[in-house]
Amino acid sequence: MSNDSVTQAVMERYASAAKNAEQVCTPDGYDMAFLATYIPQSVLDIANGCGVPVGLGTVQPGETVLDVGSGGGIDCFEASRVAGKDGKVIGVDMTDEMLEIARSSADAVATNLGYPQSNVEFRKGKAEKLPVEDHTIDVIISNCVVNLSPDKPQVFREMYRALKVGGRFTISDVVADHAIPNYLLNDRDRWGACLSGAMYTRDYLHTVRETGFVGVHQVGVAPWGIIDGVHFSALTVTGYKIAVDSGTLSNRDRYSGYAMLKGPFKWVTDEQEQTFVRGVWRGVNQRTLDILRLEPFQPWFLFSNDIKAGTMLKDDDPEIVRILPEDKPCVWNGHYATLTSLFDRAEDDDHHQYDAGVPMEICSKTHDVLTHPKYASFFHILNRAQQPVSGEAVTCDPTPTGACC
Ligand SMILES: C[S@@+](CC[C@H](N)C(=O)[O-])C[C@H]1O[C@@H](n2cnc3c(N)ncnc32)[C@H](O)[C@@H]1O
Repeated sequence: MSNDSVTQAVMERYASAAKNAEQVCTPDGYDMAFLATYIPQSVLDIANGCGVPVGLGTVQPGETVLDVGSGGGIDCFEASRVAGKDGKVIGVDMTDEMLEIARSSADAVATNLGYPQSNVEFRKGKAEKLPVEDHTIDVIISNCVVNLSPDKPQVFREMYRALKVGGRFTISDVVADHAIPNYLLNDRDRWGACLSGAMYTRDYLHTVRETGFVGVHQVGVAPWGIIDGVHFSALTVTGYKIAVDSGTLSNRDRYSGYAMLKGPFKWVTDEQEQTFVRGVWRGVNQRTLDILRLEPFQPWFLFSNDIKAGTMLKDDDPEIVRILPEDKPCVWNGHYATLTSLFDRAEDDDHHQYDAGVPMEICSKTHDVLTHPKYASFFHILNRAQQPVSGEAVTCDPTPTGACC
């Protein structure tokens, strides 16, 4: 399908959903009873999200929020409540029928929230060419929309352009554990159902990072459906736009401080392709320091302005975080682990090397390790077994490639 026919199919699908008060996708995670206390039912009836990008503490009072693909406006109105009357919310959508319902509900929401006037504005436009000034937005949200675009790199570039330096995004979207096969990619109906346009998680994370976003990490994930062995998931990710280092190359390479990985991984490669080994201090430039000081990195790093005598910490140092597998046989149950947060590559203490967005088969022993609270936020774990598994225990030695547990 051409880009234009994808857009046409998607627009027709959501125009029809708006006219018929139809939910093509069912949002999971909003307290609808609470939302109904201030949002008209006509908006809630056409909620078509796949996550709760505003329900995760992403919006702060007074902020300017942009919702890309705002539909009937559910996330805009919840952002309006959280941002408060001094905040501002802009919803962008390409479908007139959705915009009509959203716009006609704005005054009622403002009245219900006790605002003198609505702080939500709905603009007609495409995600690929956002009708928003450069560098004006504090936080971008989007709920089940990017997958519907035939040009996702362009959508992320537009988001990056619209955000202020220091801004961030939280996007809920449908992704897949494989590249989507051509027969699904060209299936008109499944575009509208948020399936055909889903990206392989590896490509999704790569595209977001290539745009320039940093600190990209998973803040929520839920199963979305399985078609012909392709597992679709509703993934919510946050990422940041920070200042681009404008220094000369020599300035960029100069150490501004030192950082040390505390764990839980044995080593990681960050989004700038720098490797951090657990317990070993390394010099970093200002941009890396700025990134590692972002909230999601904080629990995993120590910082210093100068290297102390002795540049390594021992494994039993209380600062070090290590989660070792139990010494027991493994059972293969069909689980696969996908690294979805912060790092491009990482190795655990049992020789498994994970590449961002690429599912790796894991046995019960590794499953226990990766679902430990210290590891859980880094991974999306799914089970590909579609029939019961008899799961006989095996004992296997670690291999340098991490092929077994
Ligand atoms: C699955 S619905 C989600 C709507 C809303 N975010 C929600 O959670 O209810 C997708 C919405 O995105 C809009 N949309 C899809 N592709 C778009 C694009 N490329 N540019 C602008 N809007 C788009 C559709 O018109 C539709 O209203």
